[in-house]
Amino acid sequence: MANISKDFFIYLSKNKLLNEAAKKWGLKLGAARVVAGTDVPTMAESVKRLNAKGISCTVDHLGEFVYDRDEALEAKENCLAVLHKINEEKLDCHVSIKLTQVGLDVDYDFCLENMLDIMAVAKEYNIFVNIDMEDYAHYDQTIEILKELAKQYDNIGTVMQAYLFRTEEDMHDLRDLRLRLVKGAYKEDESVSYQTKEEIDENYLKLIKQRLLGNAFTSIATHDHRIINEVKQFVKDNHIAKESFEFQMLYGFRTGLQESLVGEGYQFCTYVPFGKDWYGYFMRRLAERPQNLNFLVKDMTLNEDGTVKKGPIIAGTALASFIAWRILRKK
Ligand code: FDA
Repeated sequence: MANISKDFFIYLSKNKLLNEAAKKWGLKLGAARVVAGTDVPTMAESVKRLNAKGISCTVDHLGEFVYDRDEALEAKENCLAVLHKINEEKLDCHVSIKLTQVGLDVDYDFCLENMLDIMAVAKEYNIFVNIDMEDYAHYDQTIEILKELAKQYDNIGTVMQAYLFRTEEDMHDLRDLRLRLVKGAYKEDESVSYQTKEEIDENYLKLIKQRLLGNAFTSIATHDHRIINEVKQFVKDNHIAKESFEFQMLYGFRTGLQESLVGEGYQFCTYVPFGKDWYGYFMRRLAERPQNLNFLVKDMTLNEDGTVKKGPIIAGTALASFIAWRILRKK
């Protein structure tokens, strides 16, 4: 059943019509809990609040379905605006970018050019740029562009997904770069990826341990307390310096755990997504964890003052509740 719900929300995340409609709605369905606003000033205020707690940030200006040059150029400008803001306000913050946003589905060279423009500004400000890893269809080109950029810039890194069979080899190949290690968020074919949670978790821990014994900086991006606890023990047993790695989590998730890790002296970075194009991101979060439907159900049923909403929204709520019930009942 967990797989059905994952498929269902991944399917919804890819629905272009709903993505377009959501851009006009503003943050709805409880997305404001996990998306830090729709504009740069609001995002910067969220980053400042996190920085004040000793939490570093990585900012993602959300964008989906970029298939033409104008949209990709606009995404590049948005990214440059974020870099300018980070520099201007001296935020403890770097950026995360998806290559499809800056034109990977338009043309490889065009995307590379856009990234080179971004890298030039990021380097001038000494801001690190992380290339997020998308689905497997974009994997080879993402690695190619990363390697191209790494020839000129040292402030670049990417994400390695533990569900892919090839990750151990690629991680070794990219051993000198700063990397973020994750379990993997997309639905991939069994010919290229582990399918069960047990296999993915096992590979994830294996990769984290290999990486922590190397020299380059590692971001361990997970909300899984079991993985985090095992990493803490491994680091202690192997006398690994806390400066050589950080934990990362998404904005709005497990905030208590985020703060307690900071309290224990671990470096921590929160991934802060923002922008009008929040819908696909939000649906992928629901795909990962059906319990996140809480956000949606609360948003659809309650007003800000806690009173119950009325009117046509109830029909939507009934549907959302039904979906939640089906998923949770069969879990
Ligand atoms: P998982 O979802 O496997 O949960 C394991 C257990 O942890 C759960 O059973 C539960 O006990 C506990 N748990 C999890 N979430 C919880 C919550 N909110 N509250 C309470 N308990 C909770 N993916 C990708 O493909 N490319 C990328 O570039 C990135 N980038 C990225 C950045 C950052 C900062 C993060 C945190 C994640 C990504 N991901 C990603 C997503 C990643 O691949 C993965 O899909 C999600 O993080 C979900 O897996 P987890 O490891 O968090 O735990």
